[in-house]
Amino acid sequence: MLVTAVEARPLRSLAQARVELGPGIVSLVGPNGIGKTNLLEALYFALTGRSFRTGDRRDLIPFGESFARAEATVRDDDGIERRLLASVSRAEGRRHLLDGSPADPATISYNRPPVAVFAPDRLALIKGPPAERRAHLDEFLAARWPARADLRKRFGQVLAQRNALVGRIASHRATPGDLDVWDETMAAAAAPLVAARGAAVSELAGPFASTAEELGMEGAARIEYAPRAAGSAEEIRAGLAERRDADIRLGRSSWGPHLDELKIERDGRSLRRYGSQGQQRAALLALLFAERDTLLQARRVVPLLLLDDVMSELDPGRRERLVERLASGGQALITAASMDSLPDRASGSVVRMPLVISEAAAA
Ligand SMILES: Nc1ncnc2c1ncn2[C@@H]1O[C@H](COP(=O)(O)OP(=O)(O)OP(=O)(O)O)[C@@H](O)[C@H]1O
Ligand SMILES: [Mg+2]
Repeated sequence: MLVTAVEARPLRSLAQARVELGPGIVSLVGPNGIGKTNLLEALYFALTGRSFRTGDRRDLIPFGESFARAEATVRDDDGIERRLLASVSRAEGRRHLLDGSPADPATISYNRPPVAVFAPDRLALIKGPPAERRAHLDEFLAARWPARADLRKRFGQVLAQRNALVGRIASHRATPGDLDVWDETMAAAAAPLVAARGAAVSELAGPFASTAEELGMEGAARIEYAPRAAGSAEEIRAGLAERRDADIRLGRSSWGPHLDELKIERDGRSLRRYGSQGQQRAALLALLFAERDTLLQARRVVPLLLLDDVMSELDPGRRERLVERLASGGQALITAASMDSLPDRASGSVVRMPLVISEAAAA
C-alpha cells in the first residue's frame, strides 16, 4: 500500500499544499517554521482523522479561518486508488471520508497503511504512563496478526462491564456471587490478549536491542513485557477470585492486562524514569524500527513512517545507518531543515519547502 499524494487545503500555516509521494524515502526540506511538520500532520490527519501533535483537532484550523482539511490518496497492491479526507470545522465538527462518503474507523483503517510517527513530542511513549505503551503494543500486534486485532477491544468491553458490576456490588445493588460469570468471561478475554502481547514483545526484543545499539545508545537496551496477570484463562480467573474482596473495596478490577507494562530499560534501569532525552529518543526510534523490521519479515503491511526532525540530533554515521534501515522497504517521510543533514541515500526524492504552487493551481 502506497500513499501517492497528500494535500492540505488548508491546515495550520498551509493554505493550499499538494505533494506527490513516491515509494521509499521522501525528504521534506526547508527552513524552520516553513510548514514541514504541518505537512506531516496533514498526512497523518487525512489517514487517521487525528493529529499526532494535539488532542484538539481545532488547533489545525488556520488562524482566523473556520475549518481545516487534509486529503491523502492511497494506492493498494492492486493499483486501486482511494481518497481519504479528514476535516474539522468550528461549526460542524469533524468528518472523515473515504472516497467522498463517511466511513467507520474499521473501514478506513482497512484502506490505509498503518502510520508510525517519530516526533519530539512522541517521547510520551517512552516517558509517559504505561497506558501509552499498552495502546502502542496493541496496535503493533493488530498489524502483526490481523486476526488478533480485536482482542484489545473485546477485553476492554468485558472489563468495563465487570467494573460496572463491581461498582453495583460495592453499593449493594448486586451480590458478590454475580461476579462468578464475569470473572470467567474476563479471564477468557484476558488470556489471549496477554499471550499475544507476550508473543509480540518476544518478536520485538531482539530487533529492539540491536537497533538501539546501532543508533548509538550506550549500554544494553532491552524491552520486556511485564503482565500484571499472566497464565491461562483458568489461572487468571483464580487470580480474580482471590482479589474479589479487594476489588469490591476498591470499586474496580485490580487484576488483568489493563495493568500491564512494557518495560523499556537501559542497563537494567527504566528509561522512563532515568533515561536522558537522547537515550529516550534512541529508544523510541529503536522501537519503531523493530516493529517495522518485524512486519517486513512477516510480510505484513509496514507502517508508513513519519520521521520529524530525526536527523538533526544524530551524527553522520548514525544518519547513514538509519537511512539504510529505511531503504530496506516501506515508505517514509523525513523532515530536515537543510540538505546537509540528509545522507545521500535520502536525497533522491526531495520536496523543497516552501512549495512552489503551479500557475494552474494558483489561478
Ligand atoms: N493553526 C495555525 N494557523 C496558522 N499557522 C499556524 C497554526 N499552527 C501553527 N502555525 C504556524 O506554522 C508554523 C510552523 O510550522 P511547522 O511546525 O510545520 O514548521 P517546520 O517547518 O516544521 O519548522 P521546524 O523546522 O522549526 O520544525 C509556525 O509559523 C506557526 O506559527
Ligand atoms: Mg517541524
